[in-house]
Amino acid sequence: MKILVTGGAGFIGSHVTRKLLERGDNVVCVDNFNDYYSPKIKEGNVAQFADNSNYKLYRGDIADYALMKNIFETEKFDRIFHPAARANVRQSIQDPFIYEESNIKGTLVLLDLAKDFGIKNFVLVSSSSVYAKNKKVPFAESDAVDHPISPYAATKRSTELLAYTYHHVHGLNVNVVRPFNVYGPSGRPDMIPYMFTRLIDEGGEVKRFGDGSMKRDQTFIEDFVGGAIAALDKIFGYEIFNLGNSGPVELGHVIEVIEKILGKKANVKEYPVPATEVPITYADITKARKMLGYDPQTKFEDGMKIFINWYQLNKQNY
Ligand SMILES: NC(=O)c1ccc[n+]([C@@H]2O[C@H](COP(=O)([O-])OP(=O)(O)OC[C@H]3O[C@@H](n4cnc5c(N)ncnc54)[C@H](O)[C@@H]3O)[C@@H](O)[C@H]2O)c1
Repeated sequence: MKILVTGGAGFIGSHVTRKLLERGDNVVCVDNFNDYYSPKIKEGNVAQFADNSNYKLYRGDIADYALMKNIFETEKFDRIFHPAARANVRQSIQDPFIYEESNIKGTLVLLDLAKDFGIKNFVLVSSSSVYAKNKKVPFAESDAVDHPISPYAATKRSTELLAYTYHHVHGLNVNVVRPFNVYGPSGRPDMIPYMFTRLIDEGGEVKRFGDGSMKRDQTFIEDFVGGAIAALDKIFGYEIFNLGNSGPVELGHVIEVIEKILGKKANVKEYPVPATEVPITYADITKARKMLGYDPQTKFEDGMKIFINWYQLNKQNY
């Protein structure tokens, strides 16, 4: 199959690309290498595929309709895996317009072209942030998600709704996946596992929101990729799937695990919890298990050993 992977220079996109190339698919990546975090990391992510004749890279913006139309005409994709997005809650409050442009307009461009070019299956990477402050845990796909608490989450929910519309009106097959805090080698430096690892390693202040009891469902990248590829392979019409670990980890425990692996003590300072932070994320993955065969196996402690090993080998580069 020939697959368009948007944001393929990023964390999730590059891991999914690697898996697709390993099994013999053709991958075309479109990424604008924006500087939200160091583009050097993204360059490193795509460098591993440079010599693969089944891989092609376009540097450009998914919200640029003319460019994307040209790429669709040239490449003739079978399926689309779409994680390209701006992905930080707090930055989305400071600069909501770039979130609207990349996340909503970018997704709309892709959906519209997918409809015009007869794409067989479209995987939209949404986010667990759509569950916001829902009280009922674990979060299930059938729960109401009408009260996003950041522009980022609102854009993610909007893309799910647009995708549903394209399914309903044009018959486009869409699987929406909602990742829950994915971490691992070449992870995003703004996310807690990476950020705290660096701070503890370098002796910087670890800003902990609240008393450490806040919980996040931490999902190891290899587990997530298994679910993501199954979502690309299986056609259902329109479905939404939680891809989490279904075992939330307390923030205090995240710090303890990193301290233990690095053999260093964290310099923790407590700060009030911002209004955009939720007390818990916790995925009900019953549906993904049943329909996708999704089966996350990695314990947080084990995944962090793999991540920190990668970090030690690569920290001088970034
Ligand atoms: N990593 C997680 O834990 C997590 C959790 C929930 C949701 N998600 C979602 O998963 C997706 C991927 O996240 P990630 O962690 O890999 O982030 P990432 O920032 O590493 O990857 C996103 C990539 O998309 C590219 N991109 C952004 N806007 C673009 C545009 N307009 N045109 C072309 N390329 C563009 C970026 O340059 C980047 O390489 C995002 O949609 C994010 O919202 C991730």
